Amino acid sequence: MEKTKTQNKELTSEEQKAEINFKTDWQYAASPESTDHIQLKKKYDLFINGKFVAPAKPKYFDSINPSTEEKIAEVAEADEADVNKAVKAARDAYKGKWSKISASERAKYMFRIARIIQEKARELAVIETMDGGKPIRESRDIDIPLAAAHFFYYAGWADKLNYAVPGKTPKPLGVAGQIIPWNFPLLMAAWKIAPALATGNTVVLKPAETTSLTALKLAEIIQEADLPPGVVNIVTGAGKTGSLIVNHPGVDKIAFTGSTDIGKLIQKSLAGTHKKYTLELGGKAANIIFEDASIDQAVEGIVNGIFFNQGHVCCAGSRLFVQESVFEIVMRKLKDRIATLVVGNPLDKNTDIGAINSKAQLDKISEYHSIGLKEGAECYQPACEVPSKGYWFRPTVFWNVSQASRIVQEEIFGPVLTVQTFRTIQEVVEKANNTPYGLSGGIWTDKGSKIFKVSGELKAGVVWANTFNKFDPTSPFGGYKESGIGREGGLHGLMPYLQY
Ligand code: NAI
Ligand code: MG
Repeated sequence: MEKTKTQNKELTSEEQKAEINFKTDWQYAASPESTDHIQLKKKYDLFINGKFVAPAKPKYFDSINPSTEEKIAEVAEADEADVNKAVKAARDAYKGKWSKISASERAKYMFRIARIIQEKARELAVIETMDGGKPIRESRDIDIPLAAAHFFYYAGWADKLNYAVPGKTPKPLGVAGQIIPWNFPLLMAAWKIAPALATGNTVVLKPAETTSLTALKLAEIIQEADLPPGVVNIVTGAGKTGSLIVNHPGVDKIAFTGSTDIGKLIQKSLAGTHKKYTLELGGKAANIIFEDASIDQAVEGIVNGIFFNQGHVCCAGSRLFVQESVFEIVMRKLKDRIATLVVGNPLDKNTDIGAINSKAQLDKISEYHSIGLKEGAECYQPACEVPSKGYWFRPTVFWNVSQASRIVQEEIFGPVLTVQTFRTIQEVVEKANNTPYGLSGGIWTDKGSKIFKVSGELKAGVVWANTFNKFDPTSPFGGYKESGIGREGGLHGLMPYLQY
């Protein structure tokens, strides 16, 4: 791949050269995952009532590979007539079939879907990486296995709903409209579809416009699993298609994951309707290192917490709080570690940081970078090479930032970390909670008692201790404040799909 050097404002050219030489001396040989085995159509229609059908108006948009800017496929844009058709198919399937068959029968289909996802794991991982830009290591080891795990887990609940809500007779709601983002495309689809099917609901799902392909591959898997037509419908398109689903009177529940701005818009339009909803929105997680932490382990976790998936993670540990006495050593180790991160071809198994998902997202991250510099923060970016085509942003750390800095307060959704210091538990809890968000947090310490005290005081839905960004289908996930409403995952994730 052709490479160009990026300029680094903080290092002299001699220092840059030394760093790049050091890295190239120690780099592994390229190890790209092959793309020979994947099957992609040139053009994808809408998946409605068990079939791929052309949109009423012949409108299609391109899905590109953000690491090469090459077009991968064309995807249909669903308009009002198409959304109406999908909702009707979902309603008919709900009434005619899905709410009538036994719960264990529902589970059988779900187990089938889970197994086919496992069988096609390699293909799905490669497509996820090509369409979204995330490193193959992550799509292979995290996204796809977890997507299968969600179907397995919720399949197990299908015939045990009476135990989930003891003493009551839980019933499905009907048709669920589900809108998902681009950061974990297949995983978010599984995260939404699996609990809906287990509880006897039918689905109209819209993937994000930059990453529709694995949802469409999932549609093929659903066909292969012989799921009754109309139980899952997948309509592609952008915000307009999403709002048509949200505002459709035939939808009984909305599940949305995405930006806080759109979440607020959706909440307003649902107010006063019969629709139930869950919103999983932004975050600005605090990752807190106490002086008694194992520093090397913590630094590895901090790096994973913010640079994992290019920081395109709502629960990313984007604010680091370091106890003052260990600030120097943490910063040194953090910079040393960041200098070794491999940025580049997401299909290469050695890559740590892949491509930014879209040009728009890259522009947003770059703007925050300039805001940080203008606000007077100190900044470190390693001098690494990035490919000449595609959307890239080097891992970035800001320190000497104030609590009021915009880069500390606002969600950047990119590989950008801010570092602040603290002296006491009370101080760090106040600073960590001083944000409009409350999705997740992390604590690094040797003392169990400190973990219990601090995690109890953090206003965050998920708090990891001596680890970060760990997911499991059995654990509920969701936020406080502007991070959203409701929980997904685990037993709690069944409730928003049931009336009882
Ligand atoms: P977005 O919130 O616009 O998109 C998420 C999904 O909502 C997509 O499928 C989109 O097509 C759909 N959508 C957009 N407008 C809609 C509307 N009016 N009604 C219904 N559905 C609608 O997020 P976007 O613009 O892609 O990213 C902007 C920022 O949002 C990011 O920089 C990041 O800060 C945040 N974000 C947070 C995510 C999370 O997981 N919490 C995921 C994606 C983005
Ligand atoms: Mg794409």
